[in-house]
Amino acid sequence: MKKGILSLIVIAVFLPVVFAALSFGGEGDPAEVLREGCARCHPGVYEAINGYKYTHPDQFECVWCHLKSPPGGKEMDVHVDAYSRDNIMLLYLKENRPYRLRVKAIDREGGRAFSRTIEFIPGTLEEMAPDDGLPPVISNLRVEEVRSGIFYSAVIAWETNKPALSSIEYGRSADYGDSLKGHNHYATDHRMVIDRLIPRSDYFVRAVAEDVFGRSLASEPLKFRIKKPFLNSAAPVDVPAGTKPEVEDIGVSKVRGRPAFRWRTNMAARAIIFMEETRAPDAGGEPHYPGLGDRVEMGLKFCQKCHSDGIHSAGGGHPTGRVLWEKAKNAEGLPLGPGGMILCTTCHAPHGNGNEFILRKKALEICNACHYRE
Ligand code: HEC
Ligand code: HEC
Ligand code: HEC
Ligand code: HEC
Ligand code: HEC
Repeated sequence: MKKGILSLIVIAVFLPVVFAALSFGGEGDPAEVLREGCARCHPGVYEAINGYKYTHPDQFECVWCHLKSPPGGKEMDVHVDAYSRDNIMLLYLKENRPYRLRVKAIDREGGRAFSRTIEFIPGTLEEMAPDDGLPPVISNLRVEEVRSGIFYSAVIAWETNKPALSSIEYGRSADYGDSLKGHNHYATDHRMVIDRLIPRSDYFVRAVAEDVFGRSLASEPLKFRIKKPFLNSAAPVDVPAGTKPEVEDIGVSKVRGRPAFRWRTNMAARAIIFMEETRAPDAGGEPHYPGLGDRVEMGLKFCQKCHSDGIHSAGGGHPTGRVLWEKAKNAEGLPLGPGGMILCTTCHAPHGNGNEFILRKKALEICNACHYRE
């Protein structure tokens, strides 16, 4: 019986996901498949969510809120601090373990967007489809900023027409002599800082771009002289002001034996890649493997992963966790955690409802429900 459920889940959950994840930009929403996994036994939750007016974004990504990380399974968050539109990151993962991954993109104004979730097993990924076969093209090489300190430093910026490693060669003559090289993150928007520059001296710099297939090309040299600090913030504007960030596409394939995660955003954005090993190969037929989180994990700690303190306009955040119930009294419809703890889900309905901010009661009523006056 256990075996039967296992193969069903493996087929129903993983295979289609892996195939869908293979083709970058292809059809087939892997999140859809995950959803099906939970929908089979919890159809009511789906119907309810579909009927709600207000829901949490990614409300159907049930696994993120509900399933724990497997014992020994790793949770890895990778911070990519460079702002770029098209990115490839090579990952170090085990060949035969399943992984779950999503990316959070953050633009220069702090606007955020989450991608959908994808699941894959590195060993089953296909090679990245060959592209035009040409090395990357470098454009717009420039000195974007000069900063002064004990020494001067210069921010060199450029773009490439496809994701490439950032690297520069520089020096006091056209023979260069020094170099800086980035690792692992292939981007289309590049920035590197040269330190310890001597004022009133001439420098030569050129960018070198290497794509994931190992093809590289160097730009024409750029000659510059360090005078006084400046900031040329006239960086290429790729979107109209006020545009919100969006993750347009994500996918995983293999490049030279390693999983390569690619994501594209509608504007230059930095990113955090949330990654988890999801199931041991011998997980058995347990549909909730590696286990459901308890209510405190799900309804408080998990929420704080994405929502830091100070989210509430009213006073910068309400006390949560263990609280004193001397000045307030709990009200019906606002469920507490064990020991009278206030959770995020005490006030917010985790699956949605008809109230703004998915509040369990209308905003005007919810405070007075506990803080009533005689
Ligand atoms: C094979 C059927 C099956 C599948 C698939 C399944 N569940 Fe369940 N789930 C159950 C059953 C039966 C229970 C109640 C018994 C228990 O707690 O294990 C339950 C309980 C739960 C509970 C706790 C409910 C409570 O009242 O505390 C949550 C949360 C949950 N499932 C989430 C999920 C999520 C998320 C998925 C998809 C990853 C999922 N389930 C997939 C059968 C399933
Ligand atoms: C934003 C996080 C989040 C998401 C996404 C989410 N849940 Fe939940 N879910 C919770 C929390 C928190 C609770 C506990 C509710 C409580 O304490 O009252 C819960 C409760 C449940 C329960 C048990 C009680 C009930 O309300 O029915 C089930 C079953 C369940 N969720 C299934 C799912 C399924 C299936 C999905 C995907 C469609 C899903 N959840 C998506 C956070 C989430
Ligand atoms: C994976 C990251 C993530 C997690 C985990 C998460 N949220 Fe969110 N939440 C978001 C994003 C993204 C938004 C959209 C608005 C924004 O950017 O703040 C949002 C919005 C909200 C909103 C505002 C909804 C509205 O209508 O304006 C509430 C309330 C909220 N989350 C509560 C919760 C609660 C409660 C939990 C835990 C059960 C939780 N969130 C867990 C990412 C997350
Ligand atoms: C579920 C019941 C409940 C609800 C709903 C509730 N509160 Fe509270 N509130 C409490 C409790 C209990 C405390 C005492 C916490 C402590 O001091 O340990 C508290 C404390 C406070 C405090 C004092 C904070 C501090 O740092 O000492 C303020 C202010 C407050 N609440 C405002 C609000 C507002 C505004 C709302 C509506 C958005 C609200 N409360 C909704 C139960 C509630
Ligand atoms: C005591 C009730 C209460 C608790 C507990 C509570 N919230 Fe809220 N939350 C509110 C109210 C009321 C609003 C809407 C008005 C506002 O922004 O203050 C709100 C709004 C939000 C918003 C939307 C903010 C915005 O401006 O878009 C997010 C996100 C959110 N809450 C997340 C959380 C998270 C995460 C937790 C747990 C750490 C939590 N809340 C705990 C009452 C609560």
